[in-house]
Amino acid sequence: MIKNFAIIGCGHIGQRHVKHIKAHALGNVIGVFDIDSKVLLSFSAKNKLKSYSSLNDLLNDPDIDVVNICTPNGTHAELAIQVLESGKNVVVEKPMSISVLSAQEMQNAALRTGLKLFVVKQNRYNPPVSAVKRLIDQNKLGKTLMVSVNCFWNRNANYYQQSPWRGTKELDGGALYTQFSHFVDILYYLFGEIKNVTGKVANTSHHGLIEFEDSGTFSFEFENGGIGNLAFTTSSYKQNMEGSITIFSENSTIKIGGKYLNTIDYQVTNGFNIEDVPASSPANNYGFYEGSMSNHDMVINNVIETLNGRQEVMTNGYEGLKVVEMISQFYDASK
Ligand SMILES: NC(=O)c1ccc[n+]([C@@H]2O[C@H](COP(=O)([O-])OP(=O)(O)OC[C@H]3O[C@@H](n4cnc5c(N)ncnc54)[C@H](O)[C@@H]3O)[C@@H](O)[C@H]2O)c1
Repeated sequence: MIKNFAIIGCGHIGQRHVKHIKAHALGNVIGVFDIDSKVLLSFSAKNKLKSYSSLNDLLNDPDIDVVNICTPNGTHAELAIQVLESGKNVVVEKPMSISVLSAQEMQNAALRTGLKLFVVKQNRYNPPVSAVKRLIDQNKLGKTLMVSVNCFWNRNANYYQQSPWRGTKELDGGALYTQFSHFVDILYYLFGEIKNVTGKVANTSHHGLIEFEDSGTFSFEFENGGIGNLAFTTSSYKQNMEGSITIFSENSTIKIGGKYLNTIDYQVTNGFNIEDVPASSPANNYGFYEGSMSNHDMVINNVIETLNGRQEVMTNGYEGLKVVEMISQFYDASK
């Protein structure tokens, strides 16, 4: 039975990983590592876990099967490659990395070592997203005509000042990496790759807080046909307002909406309305800001089930790489 986890990064999301591994009937967290020794000690004490005194200590522990990387975006690639090369499977938080080259290197390391690389994209488990994915796989929607993505969230000064990596080009990378990679992932998951991207980004209200844009607007075409647009901002007044994907297809118009792709807000279909969508989990609530839907329990379940041969990886390194490529297509188009 493969079930022993270690966590690198004892911050907000690291805590969520520990909680859900502990809650899983088959999961077991052995220990944690963080470069901040104070954070490491208080986190390991609070969660009653072993604290590794160095990354090498963790990598050399023969009891660990899988390591969850819960550190700032810009550190994911190097850590993931080291973990894979030490002979352990990797679960990496989103975004997989913040450059195409480093995402390719991670995927190559997974192929070279024959180990599994899981990328956390928990919005794939949102009930409305799964329902639409099923309809697409059954060819119910017909030709894709147009897809419109709106990501209108709020991230304020408190949020950026809470962790030193946030808002930096080197470790955060940009709003499309940190806040909206989930939406780009769902775009890829449902409709595949894009081409001919045009658009703009701007820092409209976060001067002095972030080294990149807070807003952007893009149009593009899908490789598989149809056109699309993506508008995003972290400047929505006071609070998150909307996170939605509206799909215009030959046989239906469907809006997956709410603030986090958690509701079906509109549907007119050729007889295949989505009924009885189960209630969505609440959003990750971090006090003064809200993140995406909290489906990490399903992510952890997929890791355990896959490592024990009963499921396929929900989002693998190849797909994580494709999403990084799409984000970089957006940023390249804005230059
Ligand atoms: N899936 C989601 O919905 C979701 C939600 C929040 C955050 N995240 C992702 O999780 C990651 C962490 O975010 P967070 O909000 O928990 O950040 P955080 O700042 O709360 O925690 C990060 C921790 O990593 C540690 N760290 C930094 N560099 C390290 C290194 N090289 N080795 C070991 N430890 C290191 C820091 O000391 C800190 O304790 C980010 O990639 C973020 O995008 C995903």
